[in-house]
Amino acid sequence: MSKLTFPNNFVWGAATASYQIEGAWDEDGKGESIWDRFTHTPGNIADGSSGDVACDHYHRWPEDIELMQSLDLQAYRFSIAWPRILPRGRGQVNQAGLDFYSRLVDGLLEAGITPFPTLYHWDLPQDLQDEGGWPARSTAEAFVEYADVVTRHLGDRVKHWITHNEPWVIAFLGHQIGEHAPGWQDWPAAIKASHHLLLSHGWAAPVIRDNSPGCEVGITLNFTLTFPASSSPADVDTARFFDGYMNRWFLDPLYGRRYPADMVADYAAQGHLPAEGLAFIQPNDWEAITAPTDFLGVNYYTRVVLSAESRPQDQLEPASQATGLERTEMGWEVFPEGLYNLLNRLHFDYQPPKLFITENGASYSDGPDDAGNIDDQRRLDYLRQHFTAAHRAIQNGVPLAGYFVWSLLDNFEWAKGYVQRFGVVWVDYETLERTPKASALWYKDVIARNGLAND
Ligand code: FCB
Repeated sequence: MSKLTFPNNFVWGAATASYQIEGAWDEDGKGESIWDRFTHTPGNIADGSSGDVACDHYHRWPEDIELMQSLDLQAYRFSIAWPRILPRGRGQVNQAGLDFYSRLVDGLLEAGITPFPTLYHWDLPQDLQDEGGWPARSTAEAFVEYADVVTRHLGDRVKHWITHNEPWVIAFLGHQIGEHAPGWQDWPAAIKASHHLLLSHGWAAPVIRDNSPGCEVGITLNFTLTFPASSSPADVDTARFFDGYMNRWFLDPLYGRRYPADMVADYAAQGHLPAEGLAFIQPNDWEAITAPTDFLGVNYYTRVVLSAESRPQDQLEPASQATGLERTEMGWEVFPEGLYNLLNRLHFDYQPPKLFITENGASYSDGPDDAGNIDDQRRLDYLRQHFTAAHRAIQNGVPLAGYFVWSLLDNFEWAKGYVQRFGVVWVDYETLERTPKASALWYKDVIARNGLAND
């Protein structure tokens, strides 16, 4: 029996996001967010649900900290709801919102759990949306104001900050595919949104550092590796295009390479650029976007296998070819090798000083048996295989510093509603009772031994 041990000081945690767990959507002075508006508009969410109540974490956070403590989690990645802090997006500060996160941070620290907040996990104040949202440069300015307010209040205690979660999803799933809030199908708007997200990250990073001495700042990107279904030039080109669209479009500018030339050419040829081309980019933007960061957050779930036919005429989402490999209930192929490939690629191609896996996990709806136990063996297997892949990458020299399982709790899975369950802890949505699944108890053991028994 061999054993895989992770480096000393490796951080084991779990992640959530404000809109997916908090509920209390209009309490204590919180403003409306684009996700409130989107879910309250019929037809947008598969099961017609919303995050109005979600896991009620806003009221149950002390219990959730106890839960994390019972699992020996070392760190907790959560997000801060911008409209709780600045209900109109900018200007007037809502002290009750700051107090909520301040109490949460204090509670975590008392429990010995390191807070890793994300400033933006998609719940933009609706008022900013009404002024143009992320396609407007003024939203990037408002983000800096918001980041300043939050980090001035929490920066003494929080020492790990993530600016944005998954700019691809915000920009393209939200503005081009339209499956997420604000639900647009507008390529030029999506491209502008992506730029303003990166810009706001770069502008905020030095502000966060000033307010939070000695802190580490990073951004979280989602990665989907794209494999060609065959070696035909058309399939290879399709994989190149979608790699540019999902991965390089964000990585390249952050690491000083500006937008990938092949993608700018493709977008221009396909008529996707704004009428003025890239004139919305100002000369100093590049320097801002490349603001030094301390780590890159990596969200990894799956890969896609693409042929020329998987590129739909209307350029919406690419469809992954059947490979025969297992898929989770999201329809996402289980491909742990991709995590190993990805971590190596990020390290050898872009050299971030350090990496954290800020999300990795699987949707399986296994629920309680007659005795109340939840045997989510498939999630446990998924995590074990991905931990093993991460360990191999570390052996290869990748400076991976921690791992956050998605998710601590079953929660509101955006456009899919509550049907998809990613939690290592089961949530009964009738009673809101939490029950650790087998995967959570196994994870506790992984944390205790700082690795895998490999048995
Ligand atoms: C990621 C999101 C996260 C969750 C997982 C399944 O794209 O960051 O909130 O929905 O997917």
